[in-house]
Amino acid sequence: MGKRSSFERRPGDFYPTPRSAVLPLIPHLRGIHTFAEPCAGDGALVRHLESFRLRCVYAGDIRSGQDALALDWYGMIDAILTNPPHRRDLLHPMITHFQRIAPTWLLIDYDWSATKQAAPYMPHCSDIVILPRLKWIEGSKDTGKDNHAWYRFDARHRGGPVLHNNRGQGAVNPSRRTSACEQCRRLYEPQRLSSRFCSQACRQHAYRKRLSVTSSVTPAPNTPIGSSDPSGGGPSCPVLR
Ligand SMILES: C[S@@+](CC[C@H](N)C(=O)[O-])C[C@H]1O[C@@H](n2cnc3c(N)ncnc32)[C@H](O)[C@@H]1O
Repeated sequence: MGKRSSFERRPGDFYPTPRSAVLPLIPHLRGIHTFAEPCAGDGALVRHLESFRLRCVYAGDIRSGQDALALDWYGMIDAILTNPPHRRDLLHPMITHFQRIAPTWLLIDYDWSATKQAAPYMPHCSDIVILPRLKWIEGSKDTGKDNHAWYRFDARHRGGPVLHNNRGQGAVNPSRRTSACEQCRRLYEPQRLSSRFCSQACRQHAYRKRLSVTSSVTPAPNTPIGSSDPSGGGPSCPVLR
């Protein structure tokens, strides 16, 4: 995928997001527990994010009749996360539309940020997370020729982006067992499958936070933190068809 690719473009810009594109983003998703994926394709990005215990509240795609631009509300979400169509005549209205609804992370080619047409959108862009070169076609031995990045847009933000370039810093290639701490979003290797926090400090911090918002409910002694949390299960997105 990208302007320097010699392959013919797929209809609808259908390029499922590889997992390697999601790993560098996870540490930046602190405080995000629920999300919408309005250009979900076959659900690849939803699956990657849910493997880090984020909960998808809405997923739709034009291919199943759900035009992302036709909806002004995706449910109770902390953020919109998607890899949108690459075509600029679709991408630009989507940025404007999504950033008004919720803070929005979009996977876009890095070169886009340097174009004249991107200029009006950049004041509302708060963060750019640079990615390693991505393999868009599963099983292919080649990576794409363009650099990509996650861009965070928020209609309330005005000051332009902070650039995060951790390429080659070793945080990008964790194993399949890697999980994200529910408290600090740091990537770590859990000892147990059910583990949700990277450290005792994060577990206690989350526990205290939970007590402060549910002060009328006293948890039973020895109850595991968040044992009733529905996000603990597998993929749960209700709308994707
Ligand atoms: C690059 S693919 C990415 C798919 C998915 N977001 C992922 O990350 O795996 C872009 C997707 O946007 C969808 N799309 C294009 N225009 C759309 C629209 N107006 N509303 C919703 N989805 C749209 C395409 O059908 C395609 O599945």
